[in-house]
Amino acid sequence: KLRIAVFASGQGSNFQALADAALAGKLDGSIELLVCDKAAAPVVERARRAGIDTWLFKPKEYASREQYEEEILAELIRRGIDLIVLAGYMRILTPVLVEPFYGRMINIHPSLLPAFPGVNGIRQALEYGVKLTGVTVHFVDGGMDSGPIIAQRAVEIADSDDEASLAERIHAAEQALFPWVVQMIAEGRVALGGRRVTIRER
Ligand code: GAR
Repeated sequence: KLRIAVFASGQGSNFQALADAALAGKLDGSIELLVCDKAAAPVVERARRAGIDTWLFKPKEYASREQYEEEILAELIRRGIDLIVLAGYMRILTPVLVEPFYGRMINIHPSLLPAFPGVNGIRQALEYGVKLTGVTVHFVDGGMDSGPIIAQRAVEIADSDDEASLAERIHAAEQALFPWVVQMIAEGRVALGGRRVTIRER
């Protein structure tokens, strides 16, 4: 069974989708830990309700990102974590975590990368005027939303869409795709070779 740590900073709808999948027996993995940088984030309450431990930290209490990441790394090792899942964790990671977990850390982003990385991927796509956007799950490297792509799903933008209506469909696509990708990793079906990622179908 895969031992998973989820990193999140916000609402936690993706955290919830993963926790629900695990509870329903749809994931050969268990969420061992939530790592969160915002005490007031709704995801913290979701973890409490799901009975999942939370490692909460205040970035401002540290001299550098490396310093809190060293502490997180020690906690991940202590708990035997195999996979880090970034689910709306809105901080850039340093090599302290990226290097030891390269190929074992994934992120979800609300656009068809490499288009519209960074914050507000949904709004960026609307403002640009693309007719097709979507969601991406990728391995994390040192850049911003830049690592090898594991899976993508397209979401069409209608003329009538505003940010709220588009976000609703993007989030639905995320909540379907993310648990599926984690399960593919748990089954050992995902292979990383250079920039190309292949999924061996069942
Ligand atoms: C998700 O839409 C995720 O794709 C995005 O943050 C949201 C978190 O929602 N991540 C990024 O933009 C990463 N660059 P959630 O807290 O409800 O899961």
